Amino acid sequence: MEHDGASAERPLAAEPAAAPPSDAVGPVPAAAAEVFGTQLPRAERFVSHLASTGISWGLVGPREVPRLWDRHVLNCAVLTDLIDQDARVVDIGSGAGLPGLTIALRRPDLTVVLVEPLLRRATWLERVVADLGLRTVTVRRARAEELHGSEQADYVTARAVASLDRLAQWGLPLLRPNGQLLALKGRSAEEEVARTARAVAAAGGVSTDVVSVGAGVVEPPVTVVRVRVAAGRTGAAPAGKPPGAAGSARRRGGPRPGRRPPAH
Ligand SMILES: C[S@@+](CC[C@H](N)C(=O)[O-])C[C@H]1O[C@@H](n2cnc3c(N)ncnc32)[C@H](O)[C@@H]1O
Repeated sequence: MEHDGASAERPLAAEPAAAPPSDAVGPVPAAAAEVFGTQLPRAERFVSHLASTGISWGLVGPREVPRLWDRHVLNCAVLTDLIDQDARVVDIGSGAGLPGLTIALRRPDLTVVLVEPLLRRATWLERVVADLGLRTVTVRRARAEELHGSEQADYVTARAVASLDRLAQWGLPLLRPNGQLLALKGRSAEEEVARTARAVAAAGGVSTDVVSVGAGVVEPPVTVVRVRVAAGRTGAAPAGKPPGAAGSARRRGGPRPGRRPPAH
């Protein structure tokens, strides 16, 4: 979603913490109330950040402002339809918090880790998370592959970060047994799945499907590639923790163990 040149590190010129609403954003769509419910005021504030410091910090292209709600925030938020209650989610390549922050905003039951390697983007994310008061969200400034062995989740999400084979290599080792990679993709998702099948399997994917979410909320609905890892996989857990112990308990409705990520 970044505009040209946004990948270069720049001075942190403005504080995201006092984002004024931008007129260009337009009215809040009716679907936003349905999607965010009681969290709508926070979602509106997030959109204000995107439309102000998101642009001045180079995370959002100015031309995206009129379509922030539909094309970005709502499109990403409907991904939560595929996520179980109380799960831990690692969003890799969060950029301006897409989809990670929309997931956290829509689903306060989830624990969300935003993984973003670039200093400017990670700093912006930290400040926006603090301003929104999102205690369920942690920002980790890292490349996803640097977190193998130190981070684990029930779901890994990504939008516009890399091809599916690379996402599988970066993301599948972060998953607990039975975990899922959820990659927002476009119309060529089926073709990409076929083209990368061998690499995805080599990275640990045991089944892949393409699903559609958000019908009736966003038009067109969102295409998601879903890659599952095996129930009995081993090797990705931090030392001393049995892989998947926490995730399995949660899916059975068991108690939720302490799952804050290690300090970084
Ligand atoms: C095109 S942006 C997409 C940002 C956001 N997901 C969105 O949809 O607007 C890609 C992001 O992935 C990040 N990225 C690139 N390689 C990465 C890696 N190996 N691990 C984690 N993030 C990565 C970049 O820093 C950048 O913020």
